[in-house]
Amino acid sequence: MAGKKIIGGSAVTAVILLLIFSIALSSPQNYDRRESLEQSATCLDCHEGYEATLAGTAHRLSSDGELKSPMFVGCINCHDGWEKHLEEPSAETIANPSGLAAIDQADVCKRCHQTPHQQAMVTTDPHFRANLGCLDCHAVHNNPNKRLVKDDGENFCLSCHNEVKGEFHRRSNHPLQSANIRCTDCHSFDGIKDPAMAVGHNWKCQSCHSDDAGPFLYEHPVVYDHLVEGGGCTECHQPHGSPNDRLLKQPQNGTCLQCHGTPPGHRLNHSGLGTKLACVDCHSEIHGSYDNRLFLDPDLGNKLFPDCYQSGCHELNR
Ligand code: HEC
Ligand code: HEC
Ligand code: HEC
Ligand code: HEC
Ligand code: HEC
Ligand code: HEC
Ligand code: HEC
Ligand code: HEC
Ligand code: HEC
Ligand code: HEC
Repeated sequence: MAGKKIIGGSAVTAVILLLIFSIALSSPQNYDRRESLEQSATCLDCHEGYEATLAGTAHRLSSDGELKSPMFVGCINCHDGWEKHLEEPSAETIANPSGLAAIDQADVCKRCHQTPHQQAMVTTDPHFRANLGCLDCHAVHNNPNKRLVKDDGENFCLSCHNEVKGEFHRRSNHPLQSANIRCTDCHSFDGIKDPAMAVGHNWKCQSCHSDDAGPFLYEHPVVYDHLVEGGGCTECHQPHGSPNDRLLKQPQNGTCLQCHGTPPGHRLNHSGLGTKLACVDCHSEIHGSYDNRLFLDPDLGNKLFPDCYQSGCHELNR
């Protein structure tokens, strides 16, 4: 009986290990780990000190004691053609992943990486459609940068997207440097569904601007893409920067007049006061309100005419 238990136990362990391993390393291109360990040591005979180019990174070479680690990494896991290379050592006999086509680079990395980011990068992402591969953005050896991105973090995206740089210097802008905002705070690289990578604009904006994003008792529906098709923060705001105040796409009342006419009462009542002030002077709770269906400043009465609600002409909660 005791024997059976042990067999049962090791079978379960084997299944669990198999699962872990098949998730971590699921391609037939992955060699037996002991072989990988031994062959990787051979590489160092000629490529002396190369282990140091990986030390301190996620790809540091695994040691004898780590044969069972799901994080196992050896030289031959990334460099195909090594068998031939050991017989005929030359640059021609071995693969350098950076010399491969985008899709083939991904095949190498896919042996260990199956994140949504990686899947997006070989399907819908605009970078893949522009023929960029993993190694246009990442480098493996001698790379001290976070997430092994190729370039120093701050300038990384701008090294290719110089065109957007100026937008962050407009009169109102997202202060990248001073507030330590990064491109990837807004641009998701896991956007399998959204080729422009700005998946869930609202959600991204809300992570920093929760006060402006509700939920409110009275919603201005355009603030949400689930309430109005194509709606969301970028309906009115230009996310990088704008020549107008508050990152608005249109100057002054132009923001409102894209969608609303000026209601007739605004010209007629109070000597046309509704046309003399900015819409948001009165409709100040523009993202949504807890008090008022028309997003009016709850203090409007005190600001303009002490009796505008009390007089019965306007109801605060109508
Ligand atoms: C007997 C010596 C020797 C051994 C062992 C050896 N290499 Fe090389 N390797 C070379 C030589 C020589 C070159 C060509 C260098 C050059 O052209 O500058 C080279 C070049 C390379 C390159 C560069 C290809 C390029 O695009 O420039 C890679 C990658 C490489 N080796 C990986 C490996 C790996 C992985 C192993 C272990 C499986 C290994 N080498 C084992 C001698 C060796
Ligand atoms: C995680 C994948 C990976 C591992 C592990 C790896 N390499 Fe590389 N190797 C690359 C990539 C990708 C490049 C292209 C340049 C880069 O990204 O740094 C490269 C480039 C090279 C080059 C060309 C010269 C250079 O530095 O650009 C040599 C030589 C090399 N690797 C040898 C090795 C040896 C030896 C080992 C083991 C100690 C090893 N590699 C482990 C992915 C890997
Ligand atoms: C043999 C397995 C293996 C291969 C092949 C491999 N990696 Fe990795 N990689 C790992 C492990 C293990 C980690 C650390 C754990 C993790 O983040 O999943 C890692 C982490 C990373 C990270 C995150 C680093 C960090 O600091 O958070 C990047 C980026 C990365 N790998 C890029 C690549 C690229 C690009 C390739 C293809 C050229 C590649 N890897 C191929 C095993 C591998
Ligand atoms: C356009 C540039 C770009 C391309 C192309 C790219 N990456 Fe990345 N990758 C990044 C950036 C930037 C990060 C860091 C994201 C962050 O900090 O939130 C990252 C993070 C990662 C990570 C760590 C986080 C995670 O999701 O696991 C891995 C692993 C990784 N990339 C692998 C790959 C592989 C494999 C490919 C190719 C199929 C690839 N990347 C293509 C820019 C890129
Ligand atoms: C190696 C160069 C390179 C790097 C690095 C790079 N990109 Fe790109 N990016 C491109 C190319 C090429 C395209 C496709 C052509 C285009 O639309 O400009 C693109 C497309 C885009 C698009 C879609 C543009 C559109 O009009 O739909 C966005 C958004 C974007 N990149 C953001 C980023 C962010 C954020 C980073 C940094 C994490 C980054 N890129 C890093 C080269 C790069
Ligand atoms: C505050 C959030 C945010 C930040 C930070 C941000 N972006 Fe964007 N970006 C967006 C949104 C949202 C869009 C889509 C614009 C739209 O739909 O009107 C966009 C569009 C883009 C485009 C497409 C072309 C264009 O100008 O419309 C590129 C390229 C781009 N961003 C690159 C970058 C780079 C590079 C950085 C970092 C320097 C960055 N973005 C920082 C939110 C942001
Ligand atoms: C990483 C955090 C972060 C994210 C994500 C973010 N912002 Fe910001 N935003 C800031 C900071 C910090 C400021 C400048 C300080 C301030 O005025 O609140 C700012 C300023 C603004 C301003 C101008 C405020 C003013 O008073 O002039 C607007 C409008 C704005 N953000 C809208 C957005 C939109 C729309 C998005 C999504 C596309 C977004 N933000 C995403 C952090 C963020
Ligand atoms: C219908 C157009 C519209 C939409 C949609 C919109 N905003 Fe605004 N937002 C404005 C206007 C107008 C102002 C300026 C109000 C003022 O000047 O008093 C503003 C101001 C802001 C400010 C700075 C002032 C403040 O309230 O602190 C931030 C931050 C902001 N919006 C974030 C967002 C976010 C996040 C979203 C999406 C959840 C969003 N906005 C959606 C029109 C809009
Ligand atoms: C992109 C289009 C769009 C923009 C821009 C926009 N709105 Fe709206 N607004 C709407 C929609 C849609 C509704 C809901 C209408 C409905 O329920 O009949 C609405 C509702 C309202 C209401 C409530 C009206 C009612 O009868 O219930 C007010 C007040 C309002 N908006 C004011 C503004 C102001 C002020 C601005 C400028 C800061 C603005 N809106 C910008 C689309 C927009
Ligand atoms: C002086 C303050 C004030 C200004 C400025 C103002 N509004 Fe109003 N608005 C009001 C008040 C008060 C109401 C409610 C009227 C009522 O109760 O009959 C209202 C109602 C509305 C309504 C919904 C009711 C209707 O008649 O359709 C819309 C839409 C609206 N305003 C849009 C705007 C736009 C767009 C602007 C800028 C061009 C603007 N408002 C400027 C005070 C103002």
